Amino acid sequence: MRADLGETLVTREAIARRVEAMGRALASDLEGSMRASGDDPSGGNVVLIPVLTGALVFTADLIRELPLKLSLRVVAVSSYPGKSMASKGVKMASELPGDLRGRHVVVVDDILDSGQTLGLLRDLIVEQEPASVRIVVLLRKPESARKRAVPVEYVGFDIPDAFVVGYGLDYDGFYRNHPEIATLRPDAIG
Ligand code: IMP
Ligand code: MG
Repeated sequence: MRADLGETLVTREAIARRVEAMGRALASDLEGSMRASGDDPSGGNVVLIPVLTGALVFTADLIRELPLKLSLRVVAVSSYPGKSMASKGVKMASELPGDLRGRHVVVVDDILDSGQTLGLLRDLIVEQEPASVRIVVLLRKPESARKRAVPVEYVGFDIPDAFVVGYGLDYDGFYRNHPEIATLRPDAIG
């Protein structure tokens, strides 16, 4: 696996530090929103929606920094079939939870690239009139990669417009288990 990887863009230690800080900020903002809307912070009204499969590793680390009563509801969005490296439009590949009205919703994804995935999810979630919506991404590519603008409340790292793998991100289904964010060597792309 390592022979296929190029430059490391974000190390394991940097990810760990950043995820901890993001968790702290998110938890305190959620508590603030709940107090403002008269919700009991220990009432279990927070719903985290990880976007499969890329958000799996990030979500596993992030939720352990959130000392809140919350539930997890995964969704799947398909956009990168097989070996493609650019989004070909997106569609829901699983059903979105239908009971988000009045709840505090946090969407967790690995990366903001074209914006189509998170744009679609945000639209569908807002339609349900939740009490609050936040989007958390580990990585964000530059504005020039965007096909649509999406507000994202928490960003771990801004990275260049390169294709990256590791810490949940894949190429053709592989490299999700690599603990750092790295580029791929050109000869590993086929
Ligand atoms: P979007 O283009 O913003 O809709 O991003 C869609 C999805 O594409 C993300 O959730 C990732 O799973 C995937 N993706 C985008 N850029 C990369 C990358 O550099 N490496 C691996 N997956 C990526
Ligand atoms: Mg994804």
